[in-house]
Amino acid sequence: MIKKIGVLTSGGDCAGLNAAVRAIVHRAVCGYGWEVYGICNGTTGLINRPIQYRQLTPQMCDSTMLRAGGTMLGTTNKANPFAFPMSGQAVDRSDEFVEGYRELGVDALIGIGGDGSIGILHKLAQKADIKFVAIPKTIDNDLGITENAIGYSTAVEVAMEALDRLQPTAASHQRVMVLEVMGRDAGHIAIAAGISGGADVILVPEIPYKIENICNKIKRLQEQGRNFALVIVAEAVKDEGGEPVVVSQKWERIRYGGIGHYIGNKIAEGTGADVRVTSLGHIQRGGQPNALDRIIASAFGVHAVDLLANGQFDRMVAWQNRKVVDVPVSVAINGYQSLQLDDILVHTARGLGICLGDQ
Ligand code: F6P
Repeated sequence: MIKKIGVLTSGGDCAGLNAAVRAIVHRAVCGYGWEVYGICNGTTGLINRPIQYRQLTPQMCDSTMLRAGGTMLGTTNKANPFAFPMSGQAVDRSDEFVEGYRELGVDALIGIGGDGSIGILHKLAQKADIKFVAIPKTIDNDLGITENAIGYSTAVEVAMEALDRLQPTAASHQRVMVLEVMGRDAGHIAIAAGISGGADVILVPEIPYKIENICNKIKRLQEQGRNFALVIVAEAVKDEGGEPVVVSQKWERIRYGGIGHYIGNKIAEGTGADVRVTSLGHIQRGGQPNALDRIIASAFGVHAVDLLANGQFDRMVAWQNRKVVDVPVSVAINGYQSLQLDDILVHTARGLGICLGDQ
């Protein structure tokens, strides 16, 4: 019998996390009469001593929380308990996590994370026989099993709005504007924002490009009398030599950044255009969630609690055909999906005459 559950957010934050936590609290407390404990800062809340948590009540989780960006629980994307970074070394602290979980005394755990975090939580759940359910979140939207992860829709909207704002200033100054967006190794944000924001060129890591093709597109626009051009580039697009453009390689994974300036310089050289570059960065993760992210997060939160109530564990909730479904976590974490070349958005972009860099 479940009476108390824990919830944590893990990995990079995004818009909609608080909406999911709120839904979990309302469903668990009001629907099933359970207690809910929010674990602070991802898995670190149960590794640190004293353990860091707080009880969450529906009164604390009113609609203010639905609107709020970030995560009220805190999070981390650098604290894998199996390889916890300490004094420059990776230390296995998973036993401390398990002890912390036992000390918290909950009967089940809901983890909200991306594929990396969900994989780690799945491993912890197996190690300690934890009743676990996962909720997907990532602005990168690279978990193929769910059409939308929490945070993606808002990130796309922010990037689209950036193009909306760049266009008038580009036209006023007869400039080419390059916008670098996040997404890690997938081009989902770039292609969706590029189409909705009216980009002339969209560069994604999945489609190799030639600078010549980009410059030709911009020259054609100039010849047609267009006084601006918009280029959107995903952060993981490589330079012409096939090398990723990175800011740092600290910790476990590389951090992308700088491809926007690289492409911008090449366009300036190749076309003589006046080019400016904007790197949108974490603005895509912060701020209020849009309607779709609030809706999906709420539906995920309710369904995750229902799964626990029905004795269905080690499952991840997912959004498919406007329904919440659930799949085994092992299937979900092996379902990584970058942008497919036959994706409807790739087809749409080509149909609109948007240059994807390959022709
Ligand atoms: O995975 C989400 C994400 O925002 C990526 O799009 C980006 O590459 C990365 O996280 C940035 O991570 P950090 O917050 O550590 O800079």
